[in-house]
Amino acid sequence: MRRARIISTGSYLPEKVLTNHDLERLVETSDEWITERSGIRQRYIAGTRQACSDLAFEASKKALKNAGLKGKDLDLILVATLTPDSLLPSTGCLLQDRLGAKGVPAFDLNAACSGFVYALSVANAYIKAGLYKRVLVVGAEVLSKVTDWEDRTTCVLFGDGAGAVVVEATAEDRGILSIDLYADGSMGDLLVIPGGGSRMPASRETVAKRMHFIKMKGNETFKFAVRTLERLVIETLEKNGLKPSELSLLIPHQANLRIIKATVERLGLSMGKVLVNIARTGNTSAASIPIALDEALSTGRLRAGDNVLLEAFGGGITWASALIRW
Ligand code: ACO
Repeated sequence: MRRARIISTGSYLPEKVLTNHDLERLVETSDEWITERSGIRQRYIAGTRQACSDLAFEASKKALKNAGLKGKDLDLILVATLTPDSLLPSTGCLLQDRLGAKGVPAFDLNAACSGFVYALSVANAYIKAGLYKRVLVVGAEVLSKVTDWEDRTTCVLFGDGAGAVVVEATAEDRGILSIDLYADGSMGDLLVIPGGGSRMPASRETVAKRMHFIKMKGNETFKFAVRTLERLVIETLEKNGLKPSELSLLIPHQANLRIIKATVERLGLSMGKVLVNIARTGNTSAASIPIALDEALSTGRLRAGDNVLLEAFGGGITWASALIRW
C-alpha cells in the first residue's frame, strides 16, 4: 500500500524575543496572568522587514537540507498561513522562487491554526493518489503584524515562526495512517480579521477602527476547543485501533496550556508524552505543529515505529488530527 511519510523537518524562529515582562510595559497585564491563563512566557517576533515567505524560506531550507534535497526535487509546495506576504502572489509562489523550484506547483491554504494539518492532508491525498511523490508542506505565520498591540486580550497570545516538512511516497508500513479534518463556519465570528478582504476592503475607516487586526472571543473559543479536542483525540485513536497507552507522543497545536492539559487528562496520558513548547513560542497558529515536530525530532523524542498524534484547532472554526507511525 502506498503511503505518505514525513522524511524530514525544519523550523525557524525569529531572533527577537518578547517576554511577558516586556508586554507589561505595553498593555495592562502581568507575567503572572499570562503564565497562569495561557502557559506562555515569551514569544518570537519577526523583524520589521521580515514577512511570511522569509520565515517559510528559512524553515524550508533546513527541511530540504535534512532530506538531502534541493527545491527542484519537489513535486509540490504548500504553505499554510493566515498571514501571507500579500494576497497576490501567494506565499507558496514566493517561496517556490526563493527555493529555485521553477515550474513546481505552489499554493497557499488557510485553515488558521489547523492549517498545517489541513495542508498535510492535501500532500497525503496527492501522494496516495499517485499524482505526486514529494511535497514540501510549510506552516508559517507572522501574527505580530496582524496583532493589535493595544488589545491585551489577544496581544499576549501570539508569536511568529515557521516549520516545514518534506513528505514522500513510501511502500513501507509507516507514515501517515489517518487524517481527519473538520470545520464549522457558523462559528466563524469567534476569530476574525474583519478588514482587508472583499467584504471590507482597506480604507481609512478600516484602519481607524483597527479592523486589520485579529479579534477573538477568547473564552467561547476556549470552551469550544476543549470540548472538541477531547472528542477528536479519542475518535482518532479509536479509528486506528489504538489505546491511549499505545500513543508515543502527542503534538498539540500550542494555543493554551490549559487546553492541552484538558485533552491530556481526558486521554489519561502523562505530560511526559506530550510535546509542549508554548512557554517559549506562544501561539504561532499554522506554524506551531511543524515547529513542535521539528523540536521532537531534534531532541530525540521521536523514534522509528512511534505512534504520533497531531491535533489542532483554530479560526474558521476548523479542527483536525493526524495519526502517524514514525
Ligand atoms: N492581562 C490581564 N487581564 C486580562 C488579559 C491580560 N492580557 N486579557 C484578559 N484579561 C482579563 C479580562 O478582561 C477578564 O476580566 P474581567 O473578568 O474583569 O472581565 C479576565 O481577564 C478573564 O478573561 P477571560 O477572557 O475570561 O480569560 P480566560 O481564562 O478565558 O483566558 C484566553 C483568556 C487565554 C484568551 C483563553 O480564553 C484562550 O486561550 N482562548 C482560546 C484561544 C484559542 O485557542 N484560539 C484558537 C486558536 S488562535 C487562531 O486560530 C489564530
